[in-house]
Amino acid sequence: MKHLLSPLDLSVDELNDLLDLARDISINPKKYSHVCDGKKLATLFYEPSTRTRLSFEAAMINLGGSVLGFSSADSSSASKGESVSDTIRVISCYADICAMRHPKEGAPMVAASKSGIPVINAGDGGHQHPTQTLTDLMTIRELRGSLDNFTIGLCGDLKFGRTVHSLINSLIRYKNIKFILISPKELRVPDYIIDVLRENNVEYSEVEKLEDVMSQLDILYMTRVQRERFFNEDDYLRMKNFYILDKSKMNLAKKDMFVLHPLPRVNEISVEVDDDPRAAYFKQVQYGVYVRMALILTLLGLDKEIQ
Ligand code: NCD
Repeated sequence: MKHLLSPLDLSVDELNDLLDLARDISINPKKYSHVCDGKKLATLFYEPSTRTRLSFEAAMINLGGSVLGFSSADSSSASKGESVSDTIRVISCYADICAMRHPKEGAPMVAASKSGIPVINAGDGGHQHPTQTLTDLMTIRELRGSLDNFTIGLCGDLKFGRTVHSLINSLIRYKNIKFILISPKELRVPDYIIDVLRENNVEYSEVEKLEDVMSQLDILYMTRVQRERFFNEDDYLRMKNFYILDKSKMNLAKKDMFVLHPLPRVNEISVEVDDDPRAAYFKQVQYGVYVRMALILTLLGLDKEIQ
């Protein structure tokens, strides 16, 4: 049985197949509308989320399946002291596949080791967020036509932003990608991510000012400052307005640069940027549903059944 705990659980070939399937779904959604008839997805969300949980639910419903689950630890048996291992054993009797979000790094991995059904990591603490990465990869591929040969600027909270960690881990497998890591000193990417870049001889630089590098970027990946992972509120308040992408900064960028953001946005992209044709973050949300549909089909082994 296959789980998705890290974006690296899929080989580059498997990932390309999955993105091809996601594209086919986007072109022919009707063809897929009954593939999961009778199947159930459990969404086990121990940490708040709107878009990821609803995106999974929409994905399963679009495939003809149904969904069950909980949206906070308070409304689950975790509040009575049940372990993740026990919960997943129970859920394995109710559902065919599950998506789990948990504030503790590694919790979905623990669940997978006891699970009778495929487990998808829907975000574990500040660690990984593989389905956001699939979404980001599909978005980049659809917008640029390929996942090779570009410069990406990742901007904001690179320390706690799990979407950034997963995306870097994935993108290093493609050709000729340059990373510009844009953050305040306090929110730099963790050392283990720098090690990954170094070990793979990937070109990267770390800078503090977005304006200085704007003109070099093909993709700008903005992130919010992850308030819930800060140890004290004063640090958050000092950091929260560090980057605000507005029209004047967009004027410095290439005409064919695209702006991505995993959302939710707080204030790091001014709403005046939303009408810019290079703003791709709402398109990205739609791609997120297609890749999750493709992922559910793949993990359930139903991807080969569709003609
Ligand atoms: C991200 C997350 O949960 O890490 N959101 C999401 O899933 N789209 C990004 C964030 O919360 O900032």
